[in-house]
Amino acid sequence: MAKLVINETKKLGTIAPEIYGHFSEHLGRCIYEGLYVGEDSDIPNVNGMRTDVVEALKEIKVPVLRWPGGCFADEYHWRDGIGEKSSRKKMINTHWGGVTEDNSFGTHEFMELCRQLGCKTYVNGNLGSGTVQEMSEWVEYMTFDGLSPLAELRKKNGSEKPWKLDYFGVGNENWGCGGNMTPEYYGNEYRRYQTYVRQYNKDHQVKKVCCGANSEDYFWTEDVLKTCFEHVNPDQHGFMDYLSLHYYTMPLGWEPKVSATEFDEDLWYKTLWAAHHVEELIYRHGAIMDQYDPGKKIGMSIDEWGTWYLVEPGTNPGFLYQQNTMRDALVAGISLNIFNKHCDRVKIACIAQMVNVLQSVILTEGEKMVKTPTWYVFKMFRDHQGAELLESSISGSGMTGVQDDRMVPEITESVSEKDGVITITLNNLSMTEDKELSVQFAQDKKYEVVEANILKSTAPQDFNDFDAPDKVRAEEYKSYKADGRGFKLTLPKASVVELRVR
Ligand code: AHR
Repeated sequence: MAKLVINETKKLGTIAPEIYGHFSEHLGRCIYEGLYVGEDSDIPNVNGMRTDVVEALKEIKVPVLRWPGGCFADEYHWRDGIGEKSSRKKMINTHWGGVTEDNSFGTHEFMELCRQLGCKTYVNGNLGSGTVQEMSEWVEYMTFDGLSPLAELRKKNGSEKPWKLDYFGVGNENWGCGGNMTPEYYGNEYRRYQTYVRQYNKDHQVKKVCCGANSEDYFWTEDVLKTCFEHVNPDQHGFMDYLSLHYYTMPLGWEPKVSATEFDEDLWYKTLWAAHHVEELIYRHGAIMDQYDPGKKIGMSIDEWGTWYLVEPGTNPGFLYQQNTMRDALVAGISLNIFNKHCDRVKIACIAQMVNVLQSVILTEGEKMVKTPTWYVFKMFRDHQGAELLESSISGSGMTGVQDDRMVPEITESVSEKDGVITITLNNLSMTEDKELSVQFAQDKKYEVVEANILKSTAPQDFNDFDAPDKVRAEEYKSYKADGRGFKLTLPKASVVELRVR
């Protein structure tokens, strides 16, 4: 039988709550319809934000929200999204379906959404097609509390006080949609642009995110860091607080080629293998970061991650709308356990995207809303936020899969402790076999289960739709019994389990 050993006396570091972050872009029906319906909508809303969606998001405790993109960020001009809505400039969303963007959701609306969610703000600036002045003035507009033309403009537009800007991205995917730059060129641009991202609030510094690599592009990481830190002391506070990494789970390589809901065993394992691969990326990009930043002061911000499949049949290909099954739940469970276990370096992670785009936690259709299997995983994992990672390891369990070079561990786990309660999250990656697991603690103490939940479904292809919104939902987990210094568990095939003990 497989065994999970937990050393609850060994704390390995704090799991940044922001590892459970989200990403929202002006893409398809993420912002418009998904999050924002406008004050005059028949759909219940508060200041234009959908009440049902905001309530569902509050349940999973969203710690941080990234906006406005994505590729959209590098052609977004923030001044178009402020002031009287009827006179806001319209633009073409060239990246995403060529639709008209009316800019009715702009800076004030984003800050209002974050206020309602109670989350931190992560704004991504435009380096690809914007100017240093434009970026600098946006930060001044958002954060300056004194007398300046931009602070006056913000007040005129209804916000007397500046907002708390927590994170600011200096460009997005500048190796691709953000300007097709070389790492050296971007590194120099980063140096210049970030200089003018000023700190106006001495009690609340804006943390700067440098654009990192796509997937396995280790050359980008190496060259950007080399360029950025030439004649700059990496310890210089505030020069670079985070380096991003974008990684999408695509079962058949870098292109969305497969359906979100129709898959066989082969595709199940290929997908889970691709999700698990993020651990190798963290090790390898992390090793390069270690050379420049051995003290790990620069956080890795995996601010775009999740599955990317073919769009749902009949939907606009530019809107990236996809369904979400137990396979996605496993991808989320695998990824979040890995991020937890690398909390010494991974400090932010934002799933792409929050609503109606790629691996969403929420889907909407008109006034209807469903919580996806991925939503349930975020709910079951939420107590890891801000907790102390505990040492843990699994033995006696093997690898599973159907293709030799795409095998995945049968079970993955992470364990943390907060306020005296230990949270254990487990994934059984096998599509066909239930697994027995003995969970053993280091201390000779009687632990009691205070909460236990499981997410599973009759078929791994099951999903929640507007006519059957509760087909996949978490339920109380009961398949455990006391055993030695811990418990003996049965983990059903293709399931995610949360066990909380005191
Ligand atoms: O999330 C969709 C897109 O994926 C983002 O706009 C871009 O940053 C990435 O390539």
